Amino acid sequence: MGDVNRTKRYVVGNWKMNTQLADAIVLGEGIKYGVESLSGVEVVLCPPFVWLYPLAEMFSQGPTNLSLGAQNMHWEEKGTYTGEISPLMLKDLVKYVILGHSERRYHFNETDEMINDKVISALDHNITPILCIGEWKKSESGDVEGLTKQLKAGLAGLEEAQLKKIIIAYEPVWAISKGDTSGQRAASGEYAGEVVGKIRSYMEKEYGRAVSENIPILYGGSATADNIKEYMFETEIDGVLAGGASLKIDNFLQVCKAVGEYR
Ligand code: 13P
Repeated sequence: MGDVNRTKRYVVGNWKMNTQLADAIVLGEGIKYGVESLSGVEVVLCPPFVWLYPLAEMFSQGPTNLSLGAQNMHWEEKGTYTGEISPLMLKDLVKYVILGHSERRYHFNETDEMINDKVISALDHNITPILCIGEWKKSESGDVEGLTKQLKAGLAGLEEAQLKKIIIAYEPVWAISKGDTSGQRAASGEYAGEVVGKIRSYMEKEYGRAVSENIPILYGGSATADNIKEYMFETEIDGVLAGGASLKIDNFLQVCKAVGEYR
């Protein structure tokens, strides 16, 4: 399991249920050659499960700042769970796994308890969990109570050493996949920075300073090459979890470059 800390910045690309094999190969090749020259940024691609193996082969010789992540995982190692993917299947292919994404919570009824089981299982199998939390409705300065409820439940039962191996992604649900087309937009850098600061304060209060100072907290929700600097100027934000922008080589590489450069 790679060490997780705030000296690195992270760009996680969540491809969601997009791409066919040929697209995945083109995207993988383009990103591989583009990130080679970047420093200070850890890039994680999270393609659909079926593309993990060919991409793992493609990235087997590096670059070292490029890793794979899964978009989800079951908590059991094996068994009668038709259609599910286990940590044993993933652990040699990925370093990271996105858990608790709002789309999993909403479309597949994932509960905080299930997400907690997955977080524990990922850690047990040396896969770094990227735990997603986010409020559904826009409010003045984030629904801190709702966010901390998700955090508390998602992290239940973990010890300090385990809490130091986790990444948190703050994704306000109202800001996901908005582009600039619907009148609603991505969260502003200022808003995202303020809420991430509150999440970090909660982590300090609940789990102590050693944990809160170490834990990377990413922003996600319509982050693109056009607005990335806004987020990176916020000192509390340690990187981004990008959806749409991760499906375009140029846009994604510009995001990666900016995250490495601006802080
Ligand atoms: P978009 O960047 O497309 O808004 O998606 C964000 C997201 O949900 C990443 O997990």
